[in-house]
Amino acid sequence: MAERKRILSGMRPTGRLHLGNLHGALENWIQLQNQYECFFFVADWHALTTEYATPGAIGANTWEMVLDWLSAGLDPELCTMFVQSDIKEHAELFLLLSMITPLPWLERNPTYKEQQVQLEQKDLATYGFLGYPVLQAADIIIYRANGVPVGKDQLPHVELTREIARRFNFMYQTEIFPIPDPLLTEVPVLPGLDGRKMSKSYGNCIFITDSEHSIIDKISKMMTDPQRVRRNDPGDPEISPVFAYHKLYSTPPEVADVADGCRTARIGCVECKKRLIRNVVAKLAPIREKRLKFEADMDKVRDIIRTGNARARSECVFTMERVRQVMGLGNPT
Ligand code: TRP
Repeated sequence: MAERKRILSGMRPTGRLHLGNLHGALENWIQLQNQYECFFFVADWHALTTEYATPGAIGANTWEMVLDWLSAGLDPELCTMFVQSDIKEHAELFLLLSMITPLPWLERNPTYKEQQVQLEQKDLATYGFLGYPVLQAADIIIYRANGVPVGKDQLPHVELTREIARRFNFMYQTEIFPIPDPLLTEVPVLPGLDGRKMSKSYGNCIFITDSEHSIIDKISKMMTDPQRVRRNDPGDPEISPVFAYHKLYSTPPEVADVADGCRTARIGCVECKKRLIRNVVAKLAPIREKRLKFEADMDKVRDIIRTGNARARSECVFTMERVRQVMGLGNPT
């Protein structure tokens, strides 16, 4: 069998994951486990680039996220899961790459400018924040990854990673680093409860681990087609976030039936939501159950990460020996 290609991806530890995260990134990772040699990690140093003033939650968020990963189906037998700050080699490669990365490449990075505007309450005019993509490049190429599964928002970072890897290989006449390809995931955009993008900062999320009670409560209050004021008014399902959820959680005949029922006013929003609730609860119940088991056995979870860290580290040690050598460091002969 041909050797499987290697992919790597990371998430910043923002705490419990919501359905947008589940359908956007995590389900894709779970699929990829069967096709590729996978490395998935918690990017806690990256979290610090924006949360440095209030870092208190990062540690707890790291474990919440790992618990969600495991509960949703990342399998330590199939992939390597680790925590970025446990692998100091990332920091060393970040330092060395910073020597060769031209400043204008970073200054013209669109996310650098955008985030400063979007998160204006935070002072992001820091060296660490400017260097965010250099650390990300180090994360990726230290594993000599061939592919990086990411969403569209991360494409500029992967492009920069490719440029840095090429520059390194060229400058030191080596082929240590493969040039990684972005693996773009086409994902259905899952709206939040209010119809906007699902995001923690909007407070419009359903979390993977929400209880049945809370799922019922949230979906019952969810926005629908605002034009459909009375029960007998016909509606447009395409406008209703509830219908976007049906497309993900209900069978094709059910989807067709609620769409028709909405357009003809045969089914009211309450009934439509009831059906959705049933399907969402059924889908999330096994994930919640698994999570409760892992929560009760944190030793096992810590062990999974310890094993993942060790596997990750040994790849980094291999890479860094070569990197140091071509950069004139160590090993006097
Ligand atoms: N920047 C990514 C995000 O915000 C997280 C990340 C850090 C990452 N290092 C990475 C993703 C390496 C892929 C590969 O989502």
